[in-house]
Amino acid sequence: MEKIILTGDRPTGRLHIGHYVGSLKRRVELQNSGEFDRIFVMIADAQALTDNFEDPEKVRQNIIEVALDYLSIGLDPDKVSMFIQSQIAELHELTVYYMNLVTVSRLQRNPTVKSEIQLRNFEASIPVGFFCYPISQASDITAFKATTVPVGEDQEPMLEQAREIVHKFNTIYGDTLVMPEIMLPENKSCLRLPGTDGKAKMSKSLGNAIYLADDEKTVKQKVMSMYTDPLHIQVSDPGHIEGNTVFTYLDAFCKEDSFERFLPEYKDLTELKDHYKRGGLGDVKIKKFLFNVLNDELSPIRERRHSYEKDIAGVYDILKKGCMEAREKAAETLSDVKKAMKIDYFNDKDIVMEQQEKYN
Ligand code: TRP
Repeated sequence: MEKIILTGDRPTGRLHIGHYVGSLKRRVELQNSGEFDRIFVMIADAQALTDNFEDPEKVRQNIIEVALDYLSIGLDPDKVSMFIQSQIAELHELTVYYMNLVTVSRLQRNPTVKSEIQLRNFEASIPVGFFCYPISQASDITAFKATTVPVGEDQEPMLEQAREIVHKFNTIYGDTLVMPEIMLPENKSCLRLPGTDGKAKMSKSLGNAIYLADDEKTVKQKVMSMYTDPLHIQVSDPGHIEGNTVFTYLDAFCKEDSFERFLPEYKDLTELKDHYKRGGLGDVKIKKFLFNVLNDELSPIRERRHSYEKDIAGVYDILKKGCMEAREKAAETLSDVKKAMKIDYFNDKDIVMEQQEKYN
């Protein structure tokens, strides 16, 4: 069986370093591993519209931002089909058939949907489109016969829902859809990178995110004002590592040679942490180190972004090519689905024959 990756993001803002360590970086590694036959990366604009239907302009503006972010981290359009969800009509057709396989109470139990309903004040009245987006996400995944879906842990309930749909479809209509597997980040500190203010999640609305497109000065400002340990007032005070955002980021971003290059007086992160815990290590020093580590990772990304920013028409061409590749694959699956359901009336010769036999 072919090994196929499908993953994606909602275009509701620029991508930040939380996205990067949580999933984007991994995608590039998977792309370069050569282990996968196909890789599809989707800009989920139709899904973004389910809770931004009053602001389609925001979604439209961010399609290009997300595409630029993808290209800047090193996703290669020759190896990856990058496409826009709304342009693949087959996805929406699949959703209609999958809707029959899911109950309202099952959707109501989805923890991600539950917390998003609260977040968006949808409690009183939930738009149907939003409520059904886990079903539409199952279409995204199954349309490409994805075996592997690399996502953050917040997407676990979506994968579970997709797997249930696959199981139910195959049980009722015969083996047709491929069972997808979730692939979570390996590094624990990357599972959910907190915002620079130490708050649970990096988000645009909280103003606590470092964006891939931020310039060097902005990154420095954000790092130097990061939340650390409120009890670590004097340099000589013993400090806490847990809940200290600078150390959480270092856990996520430090590489083997980071100390040698930027802070050679320490051997590794354990030694740095020990000193901080003992006392005598100031926040400015660890922040400067973090800035260097981050900037080293972000500089090439920023440079690549600048070169693509000069050729926006070229970026749209990349997306257009990706859409054509995606449509081809999705059409194949839709045809399989219709055959399995025996509703492919004009392409399935058996249907005509069967009906004729009724009258013979
Ligand atoms: N729900 C994902 C997010 O919020 C985006 C998405 C849409 C997606 N369809 C998908 C991710 C299919 C993986 C697979 O970021």
